[in-house]
Amino acid sequence: MTTESCEHAVGLQDVVKSYTRSDGDVHALAGITVAFEPGVATAITGTSGSGKSTLLFIVGGLDRPTSGEVSVKGQCLNTLSDDALADLRRDHLGFVFQNYHLMPTLSVCENVMLPLAPALGIGLAARGRALHCIERVGLEHRINHLPGELSGGEQQRVALARALANEPSIILADEPTGNLDSASADVILSLLLELAENDGRTVLLTSHSESVAKRCGRRIRIEHGALVDDDYPKDA
Ligand SMILES: Nc1ncnc2c1ncn2[C@@H]1O[C@H](COP(=O)(O)OP(=O)(O)O)[C@@H](O)[C@H]1O
Ligand SMILES: [Mg+2]
Repeated sequence: MTTESCEHAVGLQDVVKSYTRSDGDVHALAGITVAFEPGVATAITGTSGSGKSTLLFIVGGLDRPTSGEVSVKGQCLNTLSDDALADLRRDHLGFVFQNYHLMPTLSVCENVMLPLAPALGIGLAARGRALHCIERVGLEHRINHLPGELSGGEQQRVALARALANEPSIILADEPTGNLDSASADVILSLLLELAENDGRTVLLTSHSESVAKRCGRRIRIEHGALVDDDYPKDA
């Protein structure tokens, strides 16, 4: 990878991801070169199966590309061991998924404290940090509730608070509004936009909703694993 492409918050160079299946090879990503910068929320759009989640997982180091190179915060992921990749995820990346992925037997506060446990334990420091993140998503009145006692929109706000716990500079959200009614989707999207535009974080979110994509500073579209459209910036 060139020095220049390592300078972006996130950089991909000719990234291919293929899966071998009984009915032949699937190229989930067919050679993608793109970079993402701080302060912008980018919507990754495309029909189901176009490769959106694969792209996000590879950027997040949850999956490795078949070929090509990925850099996050100047570090080329290809050269990192699994342990180093886990460290990078913890220090720089926050993940949000469509189905929230909260622990059902833990309270809101405990869920948000979970990613803090390795560094801060479960004492007052962790609790204070968790409360700060919970306030950020406006759920301070729900800290002792269980996820099952919350609406879908509230659960996704908890998931976002948990993603913020380690103060990541990059947020990756896979269909974060996919299960939500339009009012709850609006709240989540507004929070994600604020994290990019006010805090200067790099936010990537996948969505097949045009109305979600339209509000983002940048939109890219993927078809059959290839980048076919890149509207950037929205108001240029
Ligand atoms: N683990 C896997 N094994 C085989 N094929 C996969 C796997 N993950 C994704 N795919 C295939 O890769 C393509 C892209 O999938 P995905 O990134 O999930 O698309 P999207 O998120 O846009 O719906 C699809 O054809 C999907 O079936
Ligand atoms: Mg997907």
